[in-house]
Amino acid sequence: MTTTGGIRVLGIETSCDETAASLISVDGATRRVTILGNAVHSQIDMHAPHGGVFPMLAKREHQANLVPVLEKVFAEASIKGEALGGAVLAKKKVLFDEIFAREPELRARFEEAIPALPRPDADFIAVTYGPGLEPALWVGVAFARALAAAWDVPLVPCNHMEGHIVAGLIKPDLTAPGVYDGAGASFPALSLLISGGHTQIVLAEKVGSYKVVGETRDDAIGECFDKVARMLGLQYPGGPKVSKLAAEARAKGLQSPEPLPRPMIDSKDLDFSFSGLKTAVLYLLKKLESEKRPLVDDIRAGICREAEDAVTEVVVAKMRAAIERFAVQSIVVGGGVIANSHIRAALEALAAECSIGIFLPQTDHATDNGFMIALAGYFNRAKAQSAEAPLRAVGNLPIGPRA
Ligand code: KG4
Ligand code: ZN
Repeated sequence: MTTTGGIRVLGIETSCDETAASLISVDGATRRVTILGNAVHSQIDMHAPHGGVFPMLAKREHQANLVPVLEKVFAEASIKGEALGGAVLAKKKVLFDEIFAREPELRARFEEAIPALPRPDADFIAVTYGPGLEPALWVGVAFARALAAAWDVPLVPCNHMEGHIVAGLIKPDLTAPGVYDGAGASFPALSLLISGGHTQIVLAEKVGSYKVVGETRDDAIGECFDKVARMLGLQYPGGPKVSKLAAEARAKGLQSPEPLPRPMIDSKDLDFSFSGLKTAVLYLLKKLESEKRPLVDDIRAGICREAEDAVTEVVVAKMRAAIERFAVQSIVVGGGVIANSHIRAALEALAAECSIGIFLPQTDHATDNGFMIALAGYFNRAKAQSAEAPLRAVGNLPIGPRA
């Protein structure tokens, strides 16, 4: 095991369709972050045939996969030592009855596996308690609370979207794999959160202090990508597939048969709307069908390019307006959609043009993971609570007030 002598946080994430855990160590003085163990189990293949995430299916999968994911983290971090044993669980039976009241299946898996594992020497357990799919969130919350009780470690409730923000604040140390420089952004910062469920511009005074200054009035960006993809016959999650075809279209000079709208690009506020873009793709496809023009690969790729351009132009326009309105030092981008290289490049160009810093998560930290929650737990460790204290999953947990 790498012993850095820092603060060690185990992060647990189950808000959507990834079951994830990560054990990190943060050096308080240098803010260097070391990933000791990290595992993600994606349910994408399971949900793909349904065209989206089914909450009850996600819940069942999280119940089944939390223990194997945790075991993988333990193996990667080479955690050794005496097994916990069953006595602790027996002693706290009343507390476990309460924690697992609605999760009997998870309890069975927990009671079978956890006594056989050693304690991980973690200072905190961090868990996502919102926003997300409530049935999915509850699984992680119960599991993390039970671990906190079994190991006698304080629990830090974390906001999933804050996890996406802080994941962008660290930079990989290229000389040491798994080690990151946590120097952080220059604040105040504007955070752009773009995921399957969220599209928000957040003014961050510092880590932990957020105001929502713009958001979508209907679909989120990731949702828009996924819906456009579905209409084009591409499987869930469609974002990465649309992006790949868009890049091919650019390389070959292919265009959409018709332009698509840039919704709300000229509105005076910082809000977004993406449902009109999705509807415009639907009408375009209907028109092509009525004209007996089949959706051949080149046309499909051209539409992907146009849809990606439309989304990117709107995002850049809104971020430019936000930078002009607020005196910020940097922008910090988070959420699964920032895995999109076209949007990444456009935001990097915008930051350079405005002479401000830009913080983007590594592509593999862009989509949901346990690392971002462990990091959010580190920043929020002053809010740690006992396993005994109640903790509810909150599906619509806001990151801060709407300004
Ligand atoms: O943050 P995330 O993993 O889960 C949520 O919290 O929603 O984001 C998932 C979303 C999906 O809608 C997916 O299609 C989108 O991120 N996404 C992308 C790309 N990679 C993931 N969208 C566009 N381009 C990509 N390369
Ligand atoms: Zn997310």
